[in-house]
Amino acid sequence: MKLVFGVLLVALLAQDTSWSEREWTKARTHSPLPAARANPTNRFADDERAARLGQRLFFDARLSANGAVSCSTCHAPDLGFSDGKSLSTGIGRTGRHSPSLWNVAQQRWFFWDGRADSLWAQAVQPLENPAEMGFDRVALAKLLVSDTKLSSEYEALFGKLPDTSKWPEHARPAATDDPQGAAWLAMGEDDRHAATLVAANFGKALEAYERTLVRTNSPFDRFVAGDADALSESARRGWQLFAGRGNCRSCHSGPNFSDGEFHNIGIPPLGGGKSEDPARYRGVELVLADPLNALGPFSDDRKGDAALALQTLERLPQSFGEYRTPSLRNVALSAPYMHQGQLRTLTEVVHFYSTLEGATQVGHHQEQVLKPLELSPQEALDLIAFLESLTGEPPVKERLAPLPD
Ligand code: HEC
Ligand code: HEC
Repeated sequence: MKLVFGVLLVALLAQDTSWSEREWTKARTHSPLPAARANPTNRFADDERAARLGQRLFFDARLSANGAVSCSTCHAPDLGFSDGKSLSTGIGRTGRHSPSLWNVAQQRWFFWDGRADSLWAQAVQPLENPAEMGFDRVALAKLLVSDTKLSSEYEALFGKLPDTSKWPEHARPAATDDPQGAAWLAMGEDDRHAATLVAANFGKALEAYERTLVRTNSPFDRFVAGDADALSESARRGWQLFAGRGNCRSCHSGPNFSDGEFHNIGIPPLGGGKSEDPARYRGVELVLADPLNALGPFSDDRKGDAALALQTLERLPQSFGEYRTPSLRNVALSAPYMHQGQLRTLTEVVHFYSTLEGATQVGHHQEQVLKPLELSPQEALDLIAFLESLTGEPPVKERLAPLPD
């Protein structure tokens, strides 16, 4: 018996060349990546037919004011489901950087400011944002009605599409001095509800697709699972820094390397100066007012966890200027970084945490956890090697391109 334990211990120690037991324990809180939790506010969230419809819609540029912008314009599969730009450009230029959609269903709040509480509610916003797709829910319903493939797939899931023949060409909730906003108000309440239901279902199909965008089993995951060759020496030291002196886990925690919460790390705005962006402070107000949130009439679960999260959500002054902690899984695939793509490479990100150079002070709410780490050149390389070891394996290729007709 003693001998068995002895052999086991030696085997463990052999695997455990450089990480302490504490470091291993911490590592196991990040790996493996579990499946995203269910989302009962969308009863089609894990429906394969909905995912296929969502995939069609994701790549469909007809859903835009100029027929040239689709979700994939700013979330391109071969650019880490981002766009390689600092500020994303569709019909116009947006004020923020496009986040990667890899493993996006792991998050609890969506957008940098968390102004959406589900992926389905999120998807309606770029559709109608004049700087993104510049489309609208009425034109969406009309397009679905006119396309036999889309309408049959839609109706098989969500039931009959509305009769849109008497609707204006374009209309959406907007200010009344906007022609689309005026056209929207002129529609009857039932028609407005019917058009919004189509938009919500559009979002539910997109969520089903986005939930399949999972990339896991990274070198880091394989190492934690016992493959001693999966990580370089440098990446192993990088993990020690990440989990130790770097204190990165205080925000980039859990299997998704994000606490799902909001922080201000003092990254100055792209144009320089002091940021005026209320970020999470405004995000809380917007998500609570969103008719497509978990408490609203289009939610399939108005009493569950997501609804409860909204009921207990508070708008706190210290959330001014806070952005959601991004996941670090697959981070090497989607440069540039931060909410406006202010930093071009992981080298620049690590340099920022090392020096806090250029960091803006945000009054007395400045995050106390951040101190310049003053990394040596080797330590910086180690941290980058670790971040690069978080790139997982992609799903089947067919998921990452427009479906054949
Ligand atoms: C013009 C570029 C553009 C287009 C087109 C676009 N997006 Fe985005 N997307 C962005 C930007 C920029 C953000 C971040 C905006 C913010 O946080 O304020 C974003 C955020 C998101 C998020 C939140 C991710 C997270 O981690 O919180 C999701 C999900 C998403 N987009 C999905 C979509 C879908 C689905 C479509 C198509 C219906 C779409 N996007 C179309 C640029 C775009
Ligand atoms: C106080 C919480 C906090 C700590 C500690 C922290 N981060 Fe972050 N991290 C964030 C937030 C919030 C952002 C997004 C900030 C923004 O866009 O303004 C971010 C962004 C990043 C990004 C860019 C990701 C992307 O997709 O744009 C990387 C990489 C990163 N952090 C790595 C690290 C590393 C490495 C450490 C430790 C040295 C660390 N972080 C420590 C909260 C934190």
